[in-house]
Amino acid sequence: MKAALRLGMALAFLALPTFSAQADPAAGEKIFNDGKCTDCHYTKGPAREKTIADQLAKKGPELWYAGSKFQKEWLAGWLQDPKPIRPLKFNSMTEKNPADHPKLAKADAGAVTDFLMSLTSDAVKPVKIKAKRNPKGRLIFTKKMPCSGCHQYPGRKGKISGGLMGPTLVGAGKRLNSDWIYAYLQQPKVFKPVKMMPVFVGLLSDKDMKNVTSYVANFKK
Ligand code: HEC
Ligand code: HEC
Repeated sequence: MKAALRLGMALAFLALPTFSAQADPAAGEKIFNDGKCTDCHYTKGPAREKTIADQLAKKGPELWYAGSKFQKEWLAGWLQDPKPIRPLKFNSMTEKNPADHPKLAKADAGAVTDFLMSLTSDAVKPVKIKAKRNPKGRLIFTKKMPCSGCHQYPGRKGKISGGLMGPTLVGAGKRLNSDWIYAYLQQPKVFKPVKMMPVFVGLLSDKDMKNVTSYVANFKK
């Protein structure tokens, strides 16, 4: 008995370093605040911006639902090596994205990821839409609706096609949570009341919103 207990304690001790490396949103929040991330991002919902002036005053996208929107692994990687998501500069319709987002060291990126993943929205329900090269979704995205006019995506033979007004959807399947894509199509105003894309409620049936979500979520590169 005693030996088993001692062994148990030794194992618990060995497990300690892994334990301390587990999610610690509070540490990440401190890094986020100290690192001036708050100059450009807000992390408490609901959406604050009500007018175009409010939107133009924003220096970066809102992050209050980051934990519902992003995939954890992608987020930890992007914070260390941020590549442009929006082809154009934030809130600009003409200037190129300057690709100058602040970078975090690995350990800080891990902690900040834990913090951001703890920020979720009740408006995102676990629908669990499966990512696939959904033919109906593809038809909607590329032909029936103007999605591809505003968003880059991997087109024929992996060639990047599409417009520049919205965030790129290249790699959306690694970056975004499909439940969030669907929730955003259903209720764009909850997430982006001013900088919206067209509202597709009424134009797309619920089934087709799921089809197009499934198609977008399949953009792995
Ligand atoms: C000077 C303003 C500024 C600062 C400071 C800043 N960001 Fe950003 N952030 C932006 C802009 C602009 C974008 C959009 C980039 C893009 O689309 O490529 C962005 C995008 C992001 C995104 C992706 C959000 C989305 O919806 O696409 C995350 C996550 C993020 N920032 C986290 C951070 C963290 C963490 C810090 C602090 C270390 C930070 N940012 C500091 C301006 C800023
Ligand atoms: C008129 C241009 C326009 C059209 C058409 C359009 N979008 Fe968008 N889309 C946007 C803008 C603008 C944003 C948000 C911009 C921001 O956060 O900076 C956005 C955001 C998104 C996002 C979230 C991306 C992210 O990283 O935050 C997804 C997913 C998306 N759109 C899918 C679609 C789909 C699917 C369609 C067609 C059914 C569509 N869009 C049609 C302009 C458009």
